[in-house]
Amino acid sequence: MPADNNLMEKLVSLAKRRGFVFQSSEIYGGLGSVWDYGPLGVELKKNLKERWWRSMVHEREDIEGLDAAILMHPKVWEASGHIAGFTDPLVDCKHCKNRFRADDPRIKGTPGEPDAQCPVCGSRGTLTAPRLFNLMFKTFMGPVEEAAAVVYLRPETAQGIYVNYLNVLQASRQKIPFGIAQIGKAFRNEITPGNFTFRTREFEQMEMQFFVKPGTDGEWFEFWKAQRMEWHYGLGIRREKLRFHRHTTEELAHYAKDAYDLEYEFPFGWHEFEGVHNRSDFDLSRHQQFSGKKLEYLDPATKERFIPYVVETSVGADRTALVVMCDAYREETVEGETRVVMRFHPAIAPLKAAVFPLVNKDGMPELARRIFDDLRRHFNVFHDDSGSIGRRYRRQDEAGTPYGITVDGQSVGDGTVTVRDRDTLRQERVAGDQLVSHLGDKLKM
Ligand code: GAP
Repeated sequence: MPADNNLMEKLVSLAKRRGFVFQSSEIYGGLGSVWDYGPLGVELKKNLKERWWRSMVHEREDIEGLDAAILMHPKVWEASGHIAGFTDPLVDCKHCKNRFRADDPRIKGTPGEPDAQCPVCGSRGTLTAPRLFNLMFKTFMGPVEEAAAVVYLRPETAQGIYVNYLNVLQASRQKIPFGIAQIGKAFRNEITPGNFTFRTREFEQMEMQFFVKPGTDGEWFEFWKAQRMEWHYGLGIRREKLRFHRHTTEELAHYAKDAYDLEYEFPFGWHEFEGVHNRSDFDLSRHQQFSGKKLEYLDPATKERFIPYVVETSVGADRTALVVMCDAYREETVEGETRVVMRFHPAIAPLKAAVFPLVNKDGMPELARRIFDDLRRHFNVFHDDSGSIGRRYRRQDEAGTPYGITVDGQSVGDGTVTVRDRDTLRQERVAGDQLVSHLGDKLKM
């Protein structure tokens, strides 16, 4: 399937125009692969995070929540293997100064040898031999910039869960199998970032580590794979655009025994946006070894001691937001005109409804304001009284607002309003004082 760059360009432009996503520090020319979320984007991402939290933590008795700090003891990253293993081999062109991953398919010949050819400037023999580059951001704790003071910005949230595994187990009185879920920022000094918010240097992960008895990990792995795919279906993402990809031995991360990616067909091709990993006892065993603290579990029934295996589900909040934005974007012809509409599932739409007085006279503005004030106590809603009604609908279509509520002449007389459905364009008359329950039913998540 060829990349649809055009669609990406349109999406990036809509995201900026409507306030979903802005380039970081734009007035200074931007910062490479770092993005900010505007008024609509922050709502979209918050809705995704809340939905994930509800399904993982609130709806399950066997999962607890956690919010660990971004900065952790540097030994965590030795134990986790990130200092030794979280690296990309890179080559530089001494002529044009461009940098590439050593496995970039555009490179001809062997980097470091005279036959190697730079894929950008075409020079021969100017590519350096591959050098390992660690993806973790480093900083210093305290005033002295010395090796002993180095700390890292976490490249995954998972380690905060492992080092708190015993604390949570004891505090919550859970028994294995049980899980710990966390949403938080992670940082990677990515070498080949790009594709808008797909691969960024600062991003948010929603991760859940499920601790199980060794030998039951295969079953739990299948269980969580299925659960996670269902969750994405529940977001209204088109099923034919979702698939699993099993990691080959070469693709497996240093910690993984088995791994599946959940992939979405982006305009630039099929790519991962969630990973389900069988991490075996790798992480807890390593933390036991490096910290000297026993992390074994004593099974109260059998009196067996073991280090639990971990089945991990790890999804990017930003990448999921990109998936739902790509999936929602449609261009349609309505009454001879093209409209751009973001067909978000109502449960995750940034705005749930917009209220419009048809004209700014004859009591309509006052009634529309009252309805808006009533609704905003329950939902994130918008009030718009400028421009033609058609234009106001189009603006909300681009924002992905599922319902448009119009206060017209009849409303002033009998208190009813029209509710327009973003997707079907059908309008129904609803009593103004029933709107909260009417919308509440439609927006049930
Ligand atoms: N704890 C396991 C882990 O971090 P991963 O496959 O490296 O696994 C999981 O990352 C998810 O985090 C990815 O599927 C993606 O959604 C998100 N992610 C990873 N790197 C990212 C980046 N540079 N930019 C945006 N999202 C990223």
